[in-house]
Amino acid sequence: MAKLMNRRTFIKVSASAWAAALMAGCASPQGQGTTVEAPQSNIDYMTLVNKQHKLPDTWEDEVEIVHFKNTEDWDVDVEAKAYDAYLKLKDDLEAEGVFVDLDSAYRSVAAQQKIVDEFTEKYGEEYVKLYVAVPGFSEHHTGLALDLFLIIDGKGVYYNEDMVKYPEIWEKIHAKLADYGFILRYLPGKKIFTGYSYEPWHIRYLDDPEVAHEIMDAGLTFEEYLDEVEPCVAGCVADYGVSDLYAESDMDSALEAILSTFRGWEGCVMQRISFAGDDACGAEEIDYVNELREANEPDSEAFDQAIVFESDFHTSSEEQAEGAVWEPDTNYEGWTWHLGRTGADGGWKLMTWGYA
Ligand code: DAL
Ligand code: ZN
Repeated sequence: MAKLMNRRTFIKVSASAWAAALMAGCASPQGQGTTVEAPQSNIDYMTLVNKQHKLPDTWEDEVEIVHFKNTEDWDVDVEAKAYDAYLKLKDDLEAEGVFVDLDSAYRSVAAQQKIVDEFTEKYGEEYVKLYVAVPGFSEHHTGLALDLFLIIDGKGVYYNEDMVKYPEIWEKIHAKLADYGFILRYLPGKKIFTGYSYEPWHIRYLDDPEVAHEIMDAGLTFEEYLDEVEPCVAGCVADYGVSDLYAESDMDSALEAILSTFRGWEGCVMQRISFAGDDACGAEEIDYVNELREANEPDSEAFDQAIVFESDFHTSSEEQAEGAVWEPDTNYEGWTWHLGRTGADGGWKLMTWGYA
């Protein structure tokens, strides 16, 4: 808890009575007899910030941010109550031999832009779409989203690609989050609701362990709990099955390419979408998507990978216009989606869809 002594206000430095009291040396019980409460945020801790919900305009006037230096001597800013809760979580984890630290929590819009630029250079655009928010739409702007890193054998493990190698450690960490009012924000297999791939390190403070338990114990995303999912995927189950060909993030980006078309099918709701399996994505399928590519864009680079998804969706019950493609109020089952890409870092292109 020693780090608490270093805390200082970040955003509201000048106006804070607490800061003034600290300077006068009376902010502690050992001071001049007056105990001044640490400043509090005047925010709704249940605020949703995601790809569709921007940071509220007044947020930065109302949030209380504290600053500390982590074990790597990096500057970290974080919402005041979230920081206290994090320190308790950290103590609890240490008692079990699990060591964590904070990589990043509060980020300004400019800091987020810097991450977008750095990650685009290091990992490419496809990766950034799956893992990094557009500045203005990052939950990190709230100060309530915390990125942990692991300390293993005294050494920091903080690159995404290294952190994912320790699923058992993350499991222990995730099991304790709700007790301190945190949830895991970007769950595996739930990009369809959150907009992001699995991030074991990104936790979100909600200030209410009961609510956090309700969400975590049911395996929900924050979007599902708040009933704030895109209408075209409400209740959808995404099943990636097992694959030797593709990682979850490959499937996430294929799903995004499918959704960007499906969103335009007015009134249609996806009920299930499943990876069709490695056998459906072999040489024959690669030839098939290349034939389509040749027909549409003969000069484009050949695909060397293909992926197929199957889905069930339901059409709108609204009266359809004459000559409409869909039967109204109908289940379309086993609808397939065929995509190709060039190189593992390239973006998937949706080539065709329909009944196979
Ligand atoms: N990594 C999360 C999505 C962010 O950039 O806010
Ligand atoms: Zn994060």
